[in-house]
Amino acid sequence: MTSNFHYQNDQLHAENVALQDIAERFGTPSYVYSRAALTDAYMQFADAFKTREALICFAVKSNSNLAILNLFARLGAGFDIVSGGELQRVLAAGGDAGKVVFSGVGKTAAEMHQALEAGILCFNVESEAELERLNQVAGVMRKTAPVSLRVNPDVDAKTHPYISTGLKQNKFGVAYADALRLYRKAAGMPNLRVTGMDCHIGSQLTDASPFVAAAEKILQLVEQLASEGIRLEHLDFGGGLGIRYRDETPPSVADYANALLGALVGRKEKLILEPGRALVGNAGVLLTRVEYLKPGEEKNFAIVDAAMNDLMRPTLYDAYHEVLPVVRDATLASHVYEVVGPVCETGDFLAHEREMAIAQGSLLALMSAGAYGMSMSSNYNSRPRAAEIMVDKGAMHLVRERETVAQIFAGEKLFK
Ligand code: LLP
Repeated sequence: MTSNFHYQNDQLHAENVALQDIAERFGTPSYVYSRAALTDAYMQFADAFKTREALICFAVKSNSNLAILNLFARLGAGFDIVSGGELQRVLAAGGDAGKVVFSGVGKTAAEMHQALEAGILCFNVESEAELERLNQVAGVMRKTAPVSLRVNPDVDAKTHPYISTGLKQNKFGVAYADALRLYRKAAGMPNLRVTGMDCHIGSQLTDASPFVAAAEKILQLVEQLASEGIRLEHLDFGGGLGIRYRDETPPSVADYANALLGALVGRKEKLILEPGRALVGNAGVLLTRVEYLKPGEEKNFAIVDAAMNDLMRPTLYDAYHEVLPVVRDATLASHVYEVVGPVCETGDFLAHEREMAIAQGSLLALMSAGAYGMSMSSNYNSRPRAAEIMVDKGAMHLVRERETVAQIFAGEKLFK
């Protein structure tokens, strides 16, 4: 929890707005973000890397709301995208295509075309076949595509296996042992311009040492390439810095930066980073209301109006999100609850074994839900997706309307 979410007179607030007031005005479930927390997180990165030329490319997948993209664009951020859809969002939000890097293992020809047309900064290419396709698409368009190869440094990020990406067995990037050959090949392709090298070893890392280990391995390749006359303009070390959900102790942004900068002493390449979670994770909460309290034979359930379709992380990764009562009420008895949603799946839980003093109708806040919350939500069980509200000091702005059921099935057709 950042200081932007705090209790005032036993009422949980986002900045100067009581979450209860947000629930009354916009309903639940709703995602609530703090502009100050978002700004502060971005400025920590900008400050920590200000001693050298660096571009902070927000990983759009972590939270793609236009208002958030627009806020980061105004702060000077670039963007790390993984689809044509994310590119359209960045452009619609006023982002600068010249500050966009395009990651992902499965870029289609149409997406390459779209990104070349927009004039993005770099394609982070993840395979030999992709190099060939990009060269071909750029050739047809009579353009030159700027490329970086995502190299897999084979470093163990020591994080959840689903979000660890830098090991040999992962689908991401080109193998370390193949990288030089592919760089030589790319350098010889007529419609490509080799501009950088990138890596991303995983997400929610709580230790800086794997980042440094990856950087060192990357730099060995960079030097080898330079000795062959292939000089790079930028180095992109991806995202992955962890946040505190419960009791994790990730390095501060400054410590993370110092560790990376230490590995880069004496180098001139421009630095690119792709943080997602560290910029938005602790800047958002999911606000939900208790529909029923259901005592069970073995467990007590707090059935809330948010579900796995709204916040998938607990179900998918067994992730922990702190649950706080929006109003602290000393008159209520405290019990241990399973916090679950209305979806018809045993896997539909948001939190296990939480001791809380709550009643039917109480509001709860699932903390640290700003990253991979709304962006991973779905319409399972025909549940409209949540509203999103941005708090700015004492003001609340609806930055995404609650979806309607009619919108969910608008594209569906009957047949005879
Ligand atoms: N760059 C690339 C190429 C990535 O694949 C990712 C995340 C990032 C940057 C941003 O990583 P971050 O700074 O947010 O750790 N849904 C999972 C996380 C999946 C991360 C996927 N890649 C979760 O909820 O924990």
